[in-house]
Amino acid sequence: MKSSGNTVLVTGGATGIGYAMAEAFSKAGNEVIICGRREKRLLEAQARLPGLHIRVCDVAREADRASLVEWATSNFKGLNVLVNNAGIQRDIDFTRGIAEFLAGENEIEINLASPIVLSGLFIPHLARKDGAAIVNVSSGLGFVPAAKMPVYSATKAGLHAFSMALRHQLKGLGIKVFEVVPPAVDSELNPEGRAKRGGFKVDLQPGEFVAAVMKGFAEDLFEIGYGTTERSLKASREDLDKSFQQMNSRW
Ligand SMILES: NC(=O)c1ccc[n+]([C@@H]2O[C@H](COP(=O)([O-])OP(=O)(O)OC[C@H]3O[C@@H](n4cnc5c(N)ncnc54)[C@H](OP(=O)(O)O)[C@@H]3O)[C@@H](O)[C@H]2O)c1
Repeated sequence: MKSSGNTVLVTGGATGIGYAMAEAFSKAGNEVIICGRREKRLLEAQARLPGLHIRVCDVAREADRASLVEWATSNFKGLNVLVNNAGIQRDIDFTRGIAEFLAGENEIEINLASPIVLSGLFIPHLARKDGAAIVNVSSGLGFVPAAKMPVYSATKAGLHAFSMALRHQLKGLGIKVFEVVPPAVDSELNPEGRAKRGGFKVDLQPGEFVAAVMKGFAEDLFEIGYGTTERSLKASREDLDKSFQQMNSRW
């Protein structure tokens, strides 16, 4: 991916990894648009990063997705990079049946269906742009699932498979497909789960992780991991099974 001169839309770009990507793209000389559900957080991001364009949008809602695509492609004709970053994570215990799954937000819609549908909606526009790219933010848990977060892990494994297949399909259209695979990063993801684990603190800051991601983009590295996830991307099935046993010995 070229490092500057792009117009980039980052979903969920007001906080965490998405904001760090918005900031890095912006500082490197790209025009950046972010979207998310909470206007307050979007405005805070814009105050920190003047020049940032913002849009309230729930990517899990069909009508919001359609109006985002219409608004973004008519106001930003040069839009050539879509970053599917918005995501949520929930602890769900299926030993009690379906109740917990149904009681909260739908990870399948937000983490998996939305990137798939947004990619499909933007592809006709991206196919006409130079240096076009789609970036999907998956997770190390798509490679080594967490028993505590079974649906989250499944959505990220699905996003990995989708990214591989899409990369292959879109070659002829000149749209590059990247997958960013974060390890645990300090962010606002899954506050309930982190609180349950005694405020479980992660050292890795979004900015440090995103610096490595930006280097990967510049080198056209299509699957970008960091630390443990860089290893997972190269691991054998046996290694992944070992990591699964270690991570889930007490769940
Ligand atoms: N942090 C980690 O340890 C880690 C590890 C692996 C992968 N990831 C992935 O990295 C991505 C970014 O997460 P993060 O860690 O930076 O957490 P975060 O700070 O909570 O960021 C997630 C962002 O997504 C937005 N979002 C959530 N649901 C949305 C929806 N339906 N429509 C539009 N925007 C929505 C949120 O804003 P609103 O709530 O205002 O909409 C928020 O700005 C996620 O896909 C996550 O799964 C994170």
